[in-house]
Amino acid sequence: MAATEKRPVTGAGPFNGVLTWVDRRFPLMQLWREHLAEYYAPKNFNFWYYFGSLALLVLVLQIVTGIFLTMHYKPDAAQAFASVEYIMRDVPGGWLIRYMHSTGASAFFVVIYLHMFRGLMYGSYRQPRELIWIFGMLIYLTMMAEAFFGYLLPWGQMSYWGAQVIVNLFDAIPLIGPDLALWIRGDYVVSDATLNRFFSLHVIAIPLVLLGLVAAHIMALHEVGSNNPDGVEIKNVKDPVTGHPVDGIPFHPYYTVKDTLGVVVFLIVFCTIMFFMPEFGGYFLEYNNFIPADPLKTPTHIAPVWYFTPYYSILRAITEDFMWVLAAALIAYAGLLLTATRNALTRAAIGAVTAVLLAGFFTIDPKVWGVILMGAAVMIFFGLPWLDRSPVKSIRYKGALTKSALALFVVAFVVLGYFGTQPVTTAGTVLSQIFTLVYFAFFLLMPWYSRMEQVKPEPARVAWKGAH
Ligand code: HEM
Repeated sequence: MAATEKRPVTGAGPFNGVLTWVDRRFPLMQLWREHLAEYYAPKNFNFWYYFGSLALLVLVLQIVTGIFLTMHYKPDAAQAFASVEYIMRDVPGGWLIRYMHSTGASAFFVVIYLHMFRGLMYGSYRQPRELIWIFGMLIYLTMMAEAFFGYLLPWGQMSYWGAQVIVNLFDAIPLIGPDLALWIRGDYVVSDATLNRFFSLHVIAIPLVLLGLVAAHIMALHEVGSNNPDGVEIKNVKDPVTGHPVDGIPFHPYYTVKDTLGVVVFLIVFCTIMFFMPEFGGYFLEYNNFIPADPLKTPTHIAPVWYFTPYYSILRAITEDFMWVLAAALIAYAGLLLTATRNALTRAAIGAVTAVLLAGFFTIDPKVWGVILMGAAVMIFFGLPWLDRSPVKSIRYKGALTKSALALFVVAFVVLGYFGTQPVTTAGTVLSQIFTLVYFAFFLLMPWYSRMEQVKPEPARVAWKGAH
């Protein structure tokens, strides 16, 4: 029977009558079947597949705790800091709600980075899952905006000066920059007007977008089905009698049970951090943010929260001297692109773009290039489905080149992240520059190294040891 057809509720349960009544008016059981009881997921999901459901959990946690925080928080420059202190000291359970929300923000990014890393390992962004990946990336951008707007609300020194630094980046954009920065702030400096609009964006606009994107992400996933650690398409081998993928198992109850275990372990770790080290050494709640915002006193060291610091490092790595290295890298890359095409028009285009970029490198302020490269470092993830040219999806069957490239990329992300939290030093800048090159090389050289390496043959069925 087709999944879209209306089927009666079967089985004699105490709610059967109610369910049948609802089902005649709303496709409740159909949704249950399509997305849970008869959603066939590959039977070889491993540790890395916990993070999608955990991301959903943290999303709900942030929304619920956010609603309660909003009941007591005051989006007013004169009262915001004190209202957070009031929540921490006087509102019954307020400290718990606030710590859940602040720890939840970091937990959200930990979970999402692991979720994305899984995608990188198993090629989950590849055809036919490009849209799942694109919706995922839009979610990631939206989460960054959500975290950025939310961070201003406690109105501490880091809230204030962090926002000042980031909004001032827009100032660097030629022609429209100063007007754009003014428009974002609603004032010439970060002020009460900025706080009000950031509050409105943080509590309603961005969460609505986020929820819509998450719905689209899951719908796209359920349309094509999940990938798995082997990168094998389970829909290709179906049982002739039942029509279900032979390497698939119903999501409910198998994965609902598995995910419950993930939730329990996650909550143990989450609660340990939240109850015993909510500041997490200044990484989750920065120490300077316990000082009220003072527009007249710039802190000596301004750093964003850890989840932004890889990109912040890239921004700071682009110095005047480094433009020469970038120019050399660009010429080398243009040479590589030219070897890959014989089409005269494409070759001319490559030459023209390279010349324009080179001219720009030495005429436009390196700070602007810092902003451009920081943006490019995030946006380049969108290109992954088309950059990866390997004949296999999963890292299990890819060659040593891809494995080393992915390992180096992770090192680059972590090292850049670390230096982004630290004050500027010469050694830190040089290392950030080296790892900025590594970061971009991972993506830009992928079309070559993913194609030229020796891969292992991908099996037709999942290679899970317990498979029958
Ligand atoms: C609020 C944030 C997010 C939520 C709630 C979420 C939720 C989920 C869920 C429930 C799944 C299925 C279970 C799983 O495969 O782990 C999934 C799969 C997936 N997600 Fe996300 N996700 C989020 C963000 C992202 C981001 C930022 C990306 C990448 C940029 C991404 C990329 C993917 C991909 C590629 C899959 C398919 C994985 C596979 O089948 O191997 N997601 N997501």
